[in-house]
Amino acid sequence: MGHGDVGHGDVGHGDVGHQRPPAAALFDALGADYEKAFGRAPAHLSALEWLIERLPLAARTLDVGSGTGRPTAAALVAAGHSVLGLDVSPVMVELAARQVPEAEFRRGDVRELSFEAGSFDGVCVFFSLLQMTRAEQSTLTRRLALALRPGGHLVLATVPADVEDVEVVFLGRPVRATSFAEEDVVGMVEAAGLTVLSRHNATFTPDHPGAGPEPHLFLYCRRDEAGL
Ligand SMILES: C[S@@+](CC[C@H](N)C(=O)[O-])C[C@H]1O[C@@H](n2cnc3c(N)ncnc32)[C@H](O)[C@@H]1O
Repeated sequence: MGHGDVGHGDVGHGDVGHQRPPAAALFDALGADYEKAFGRAPAHLSALEWLIERLPLAARTLDVGSGTGRPTAAALVAAGHSVLGLDVSPVMVELAARQVPEAEFRRGDVRELSFEAGSFDGVCVFFSLLQMTRAEQSTLTRRLALALRPGGHLVLATVPADVEDVEVVFLGRPVRATSFAEEDVVGMVEAAGLTVLSRHNATFTPDHPGAGPEPHLFLYCRRDEAGL
């Protein structure tokens, strides 16, 4: 495989024996509407610039919950890096592969995929944790930190809120969401062995009828050279 050991659960395995994850149904339904609503968020573009400035030439990057491939994978390939995008939604994977053909996209539930230790120079986690339990978010963050080479960088964005499995309306659709208050997001990332170099808070109003402003938290992180 071109990108380390992204193991079982990827393209072709379907959901046999598994309940279909709610995130797959939600993002299959949203498809390109998601990009229209969120694809030009200035803080997201700034976080990508920050990461790209720190990547080595022709870096290997992982985009967790890669959505439509824009803006994240598109920005990374435009800067000369290779990108593996993972997403649980087949509609998103198909869209991303069409929109950013220079990147590689695989369908799978990131909670079930394995990663080779130290195999990525950069990892992006943009708003892809919110349909996971708190324990799953913490475990995944730790596994992603280990997938990063020592000295590599990770950018994580989420909606900070002390909520667990609450129903919210997202782009007009009911969805259950789980997150942490800001200091607990930071705590989760630090417990994973990452150093938060800086954080950025933004308020963003999605381009969608009826959508209101939402708080966004971006953490700019590094896996220390000393390892975990
Ligand atoms: C809010 S969207 C963000 C998309 C993209 N990261 C962006 O910021 O433009 C979250 C994405 O994560 C994906 N996702 C959610 N849970 C996932 C999981 N367990 N495994 C893989 N992808 C997941 C969804 O299908 C969706 O495409």
